[in-house]
Amino acid sequence: MASILILYSTTDGHTVKICRRLQERVEQDGHQATLVSIADPSLPDLDAFDKVVIGASIRYGRHGKAVVDFIKRNRQLLERKPNAFFSVNIVARKPEKSEPETNPYLCKFLRQIAWRPGKLAVFAGKLDYPKCRPFDRFMIRLIMRVTRGPTDPATVVEFTDWKKVEAFGQVISGM
Ligand SMILES: Cc1cc2nc3c(=O)[nH]c(=O)nc-3n(C[C@H](O)[C@H](O)[C@H](O)COP(=O)(O)O)c2cc1C
Repeated sequence: MASILILYSTTDGHTVKICRRLQERVEQDGHQATLVSIADPSLPDLDAFDKVVIGASIRYGRHGKAVVDFIKRNRQLLERKPNAFFSVNIVARKPEKSEPETNPYLCKFLRQIAWRPGKLAVFAGKLDYPKCRPFDRFMIRLIMRVTRGPTDPATVVEFTDWKKVEAFGQVISGM
């Protein structure tokens, strides 16, 4: 049995929902997973875990600053054990941008950091116009118009492929 730390960076909670699914999956495989926000001021000691997974959502083209800071501070510790990273964004709803090699945010992110995660994944996120602040709703509808996504302001849709999340859970169990 491995103890797995799953660190997340989220704004509206969808990345946490994905982390919970990963947690369920690895626990079905007999491991134990702990979920912690990467912004938590009292982060646990990485050395207390056998594996580390980081999941982060995209907001206006970027993963949270706390993610980059954490990776810079802890790269050597991360590299000492099996590790993985996944990104959550709406662009990944498009099949041609849904893989680590083809998702523009993940590709750019990897160019910015020295850490080379052992395993990578990209998951399509959730679109929830009613929950957005008016400015954000306006901006996302604009982006959706250009990229031919839903623009109806009542739209709430999870683009996440949960089978793909489950499969990544198995990858984490096996790494
Ligand atoms: C204000 C805002 C900005 C966003 N910017 C982007 C973006 O630039 N590119 C993208 O692909 N998705 C973008 N998204 C979609 C989020 O990545 C998606 O909703 C994800 O599920 C959010 O996960 P979270 O709830 O864990 O933060 C944005 C969402 C919001 C609300």
